[in-house]
Amino acid sequence: MQMIPFGTVTDYTVSRMGLGCMSMSGCYGAQDDDECIATIHRAMDLGVNFLDTSYSYGEGHNQTLIGRAIKGRRDQVVIHSKSGAPPPRDENDLNRGAGSEKYLRMICEESLRRLETDCLDILCMSRVDREVPIEESVGTMARMVEEGKTRYIALSEASPESMARAWTVHPIASLQFELSVFSRDPLVYGNHDYAREKGMGFMAYSPLGRGILSGQVHSADDIPEGDTRKTYPRYSAENMAHNAKILAQLEEMAAEKGLSLPCLAIAWVLHQGDDIVPIPSSKCRAHLEDNLKALEVKLTAEDLARIEEICPPGAVAGTRYPERMMVRMNV
Ligand SMILES: NC(=O)c1ccc[n+]([C@@H]2O[C@H](COP(=O)([O-])OP(=O)(O)OC[C@H]3O[C@@H](n4cnc5c(N)ncnc54)[C@H](OP(=O)(O)O)[C@@H]3O)[C@@H](O)[C@H]2O)c1
Repeated sequence: MQMIPFGTVTDYTVSRMGLGCMSMSGCYGAQDDDECIATIHRAMDLGVNFLDTSYSYGEGHNQTLIGRAIKGRRDQVVIHSKSGAPPPRDENDLNRGAGSEKYLRMICEESLRRLETDCLDILCMSRVDREVPIEESVGTMARMVEEGKTRYIALSEASPESMARAWTVHPIASLQFELSVFSRDPLVYGNHDYAREKGMGFMAYSPLGRGILSGQVHSADDIPEGDTRKTYPRYSAENMAHNAKILAQLEEMAAEKGLSLPCLAIAWVLHQGDDIVPIPSSKCRAHLEDNLKALEVKLTAEDLARIEEICPPGAVAGTRYPERMMVRMNV
């Protein structure tokens, strides 16, 4: 397994690819706990030592599942544990901020309990709270470091301005941000550059665009009823008709190179920076193993230019989140 230092703020050395665990808790279709635990074990056996979870995934199921999976092997993994967000107060509640002291303390205690650990490795605030100054939220998390509740603190979907304000209070270990062939924001808006300059680790979440780049989705009908993606603009019937044409060209390119589409898509993320750790999620061992093959893929300048030609920034139809959620991104 290729290992890299996770930035310079932490003393962690992590696998170049992590394992996102969200889909193990019912987010994208049915799952099976035994296969999910076997997938975590297989990942660890293959050298993956970086797991991503959140207080919110599966309303606690995800952290409890990970707690079960790592029993007796706690010291072999770095767990990036996010705060999630409280339920919306009403349908107009666009913030669902996770930055109050009360909320952060509650989720920290509960995450420790579910993961069956004394101290979190990295506690990450999932979204910058638009109602609580970031200095206040980071101040709360900094006190949790002093109290031994977490070793490091991190942010997700934070703008360079928010990160700069956060740094005035405490070192920020890392930034987690959506990054894929279909979602280029952190490269376009300077989030990745800022994180890299500060020595923060960078985690690319949804590197398969929530499955749109998995080869399993070719039309809106491929998303089962009840799946959260049904409400995501990128997956609407109209937008999928457009996006499917891009996917077909990427699939053709992947096939020419003897790769699966997800493998090509993850390789593209890996080629965007040697500090970038993609965290694709999979709830089965076969897909995990396929994804890890991306670590061996060398894309040439011509390959990268071809991907750019097929899917330049802005080519994808539909925003990465529904409008009501977009207001919480890159804040
Ligand atoms: N910070 C944030 O706000 C945030 C938001 C979203 C996600 N995340 C984190 O990022 C992780 C990854 O993102 P994500 O789960 O949204 O999406 P993703 O990794 O982009 O895509 C996951 C989907 O692709 C499928 N898949 C994965 N590998 C495959 C393969 N080799 N062949 C075919 N299908 C494959 C998975 O199905 P199977 O399970 O069947 O393999 C799943 O449906 C999450 O688990 C979570 O930890 C963070």
